[in-house]
Amino acid sequence: MAETQRTLAIVKPDAVAKGAIGEILRRIEAAGLRPIGLKLVQLSEGQARGFYAVHRERPFYASLVKFMTSGPVVVCALEGEQAIARWRQLMGATDPARADAGSIRKDLGTDVERNAVHGSDAPETARIELAYFFNATEIQGPVEALPG
Ligand code: CMP
Repeated sequence: MAETQRTLAIVKPDAVAKGAIGEILRRIEAAGLRPIGLKLVQLSEGQARGFYAVHRERPFYASLVKFMTSGPVVVCALEGEQAIARWRQLMGATDPARADAGSIRKDLGTDVERNAVHGSDAPETARIELAYFFNATEIQGPVEALPG
């Protein structure tokens, strides 16, 4: 059954540095996903550590935090039918080498760390991740559907 969802998209520092913000937002809009919150932010080490806390025991955690604080990122709240799965499909697999042809990570990612974009993986994660970056006044939509 169709369900309107919200999800968090991040354009990571590698994609921002290569001038791909516009191309990624173009693909999002062409797919019918609607940006309802959008900003460019420089993550502090603490913010990056907190955002990826679920990965804190993984061997790539320190490197990931360093990468995510290496330059600005664009955080974007997306809304649409099945937005979580559709954004993940547009992104492609975590490792660009394994991502489907035509996906953002295949076309714009470099390796499993510098993979251009992030997306929430489930409704509960999306709610937490949206609230991490956006307060109620920064997201367009009905009050009852605001994150948090
Ligand atoms: P993301 O979808 O944002 O979620 C966790 C991030 O960790 C991932 O994208 C990559 O940027 C990074 N990462 C680095 N190495 C790995 C790895 N081996 N497996 C998964 N994620 C990795």
